[in-house]
Amino acid sequence: MSDSPEWHPESWRSKPVAQDVPYEDQTGLESALSELRVLPPLVTSFEVESLKAQIAEAQQGKRFVLQGGDCAETLADCRPDAIASKLKILLQMSMILVQGLKKPVVRVGRFAGQYAKPRSKPTETQGDVTLPNYFGDLVNRPGFDAESRKADPALLVEGYKHAALTLNFIRSLTDGGFADLHHPEFWDLSFMQSAVLGADLKQRYLAATERVRGSLRFMEALGGAPADSLRRAPFFTSHEGLNLHYESAQTRKVPRRERWYNLSTHLPWIGERTRGLEGAHVEFFRGVANPVGVKVGPTANPDTVITLLEQLNARDEPGKIVLITRMGPALAEALPPILNAVQASGRPVLWMSDPMHGNTRKTESGIKTRSFEAIVAELEACAAAHQQAGTVFGGVHFELTGDDVTECTGGAQALTEEDLTHNYTTACDPRLNYRQALELSFRLAELA
Ligand code: PEP
Ligand code: CO
Repeated sequence: MSDSPEWHPESWRSKPVAQDVPYEDQTGLESALSELRVLPPLVTSFEVESLKAQIAEAQQGKRFVLQGGDCAETLADCRPDAIASKLKILLQMSMILVQGLKKPVVRVGRFAGQYAKPRSKPTETQGDVTLPNYFGDLVNRPGFDAESRKADPALLVEGYKHAALTLNFIRSLTDGGFADLHHPEFWDLSFMQSAVLGADLKQRYLAATERVRGSLRFMEALGGAPADSLRRAPFFTSHEGLNLHYESAQTRKVPRRERWYNLSTHLPWIGERTRGLEGAHVEFFRGVANPVGVKVGPTANPDTVITLLEQLNARDEPGKIVLITRMGPALAEALPPILNAVQASGRPVLWMSDPMHGNTRKTESGIKTRSFEAIVAELEACAAAHQQAGTVFGGVHFELTGDDVTECTGGAQALTEEDLTHNYTTACDPRLNYRQALELSFRLAELA
């Protein structure tokens, strides 16, 4: 049970920690954690419970969840233009989805804390030098020298502060009218005016926003909708709960509530590499009241997934579990048995699709990329598998940016492998650019 006596915010420490980067500076670690334990929370239990209630509705097909953002945020990304453009692209995508799916869309950013990254190898070798890998700005630094690659506890506090600054700007923008659904022109990215978007996509987007605006006017004329709820489009935050020092130091009991809340983010998720049943991450997340995402890749077997659900959600609480499938080419074989097993268990989950992480590949020249067409194919196959199994396809998880990057191939722009070097800026995995992201939203609106 999540509140059984043996669980404690620190009980994960007795379990094996996958993707661990040991801190040599134990005194520095203790002082960083003591600081994190007393600083104000980044989010509140009220917001966490509100998201959980919305996820419970998404589990029943009444809402759709759009989760997206960078693969890895960096501390240097904490700039107004970078933050605003992430909000803009997510708002634009949600507008297309609201209009196409005819249901409310819950917006969840991969931001304000997406600073810790799992790696396929613990070390990196260049020439005859081998050093610890770079595990994200929460942990160490990207430079290839021994000092940079040391796990630095001061970064835990820096990460918290940058998450707070990011969130402060997001909250001000969304509370202050920027995200007013009556004024989608506020979120126009500069490319809306440029030829790069393509006349067709621009027309479709403008038509979609005009339809939403028309519906708003109609609802207001009927007096059926409280104006305030349409004046702002709230965002929730999420990140991979990889660094358990960071997560547990921000996990608290709050007045008038029984349970423990991880107040570093609304929706933490457990990654594909850290979902081991006996591991520290499952131990930690089984005890928090937040909704929790779990990435489910092609090697997951149905029994393991059921055991995960028993451990993470012993009480079968609605809205608690989000399973984010990321299957790649194995989807047709791997996904249906998992859908069927969970369906037969009757346990409540929200099924989301991450069509990015199973479709990463390297070009011959060694650049990590993903093809837009493979991403669309996974979404289509996922929708078909849910239809077949009678399960609800309730959300998507994307790596994307509001910028004009060249990291994924394909789409209407027909980006080729040769184009990738033009503007390849990701700190980790390749992201959809604004045009690919909008295009994908239209494809998705026809599917889910
Ligand atoms: C990620 O979401 O950036 C990630 C590493 O995903 P996964 O755990 O699914 O590989
Ligand atoms: Co990634």
